[in-house]
Amino acid sequence: MTKAPGSREGKTSGRGQRDLRVRVKTAKGRKLSSKLWLERQLNDPYVVRAKREGYRGRAAYKILELDDKYRFLVPGARVVDLGCAPGGWCQVAVARVNALGEKSGKKIGRVLGLDLQEVDPIAGAEIHQLDFLSDGADDQVKEWLGGPADVVMSDMAASSSGHKNTDHLRIVALVEAAAQLAFDVLEPGGTFVAKVLAGGAETEMQALLKRNFEKVANVKPPASRSDSSEKFVVALGFKGRPDEDAPED
Ligand SMILES: C[S@@+](CC[C@H](N)C(=O)[O-])C[C@H]1O[C@@H](n2cnc3c(N)ncnc32)[C@H](O)[C@@H]1O
Repeated sequence: MTKAPGSREGKTSGRGQRDLRVRVKTAKGRKLSSKLWLERQLNDPYVVRAKREGYRGRAAYKILELDDKYRFLVPGARVVDLGCAPGGWCQVAVARVNALGEKSGKKIGRVLGLDLQEVDPIAGAEIHQLDFLSDGADDQVKEWLGGPADVVMSDMAASSSGHKNTDHLRIVALVEAAAQLAFDVLEPGGTFVAKVLAGGAETEMQALLKRNFEKVANVKPPASRSDSSEKFVVALGFKGRPDEDAPED
């Protein structure tokens, strides 16, 4: 049976019980930070579960948990996945939107993923390598998409510079670019999901999303590590683009 997410699998559990945590010896040449990272990976129930269930990474559980709550990955949905490497979110989306047509009688969806890095192919997903902050990236994605989308989701994260403010500005730029694409391609009623950092871009971005969507939720799914400042904004019910031909007030 699958253990519940967040179960205390493998942790020290009181007197008289064995400590089941995997410990990593500090080998010659291995830095303490690498040892701690490896130890965390080996003892993380989501990492163990991802391996067992065939997901490319523990990140898959974040979108599974968000979708279990808000139900935007429905059969037939057209999804854009920004920052998709190594591909966990795409795997979840392919199954839930029925991109392979495996659920008979259900609508067939589509998954378009992109990332700075190369991604091993995923059956049912169309994946491209692209820097989403480069000039013309937005138009390129629209061309690949060739029409509207129902979901734009972004797990994009720039690698840490070690400088808090710089990291913060980078993630703000990524979220803003993702939101801009969402405004351009979403069908009315569509959903925008994006990773943000707590304390980031908050006020302006939240206000912008609230103007353009029926509901905006800020969520930290259980699979998101408690020691990380990441959280997700889930904006539901896109109100649609303002009619460009409409006379201005
Ligand atoms: C946390 S990982 C995504 C994990 C993914 N959701 C999954 O389930 O496998 C963040 C990704 O964002 C990508 N990324 C960061 N900046 C980007 C950019 N400017 N354009 C495209 N991808 C970017 C990184 O290359 C990285 O693969």
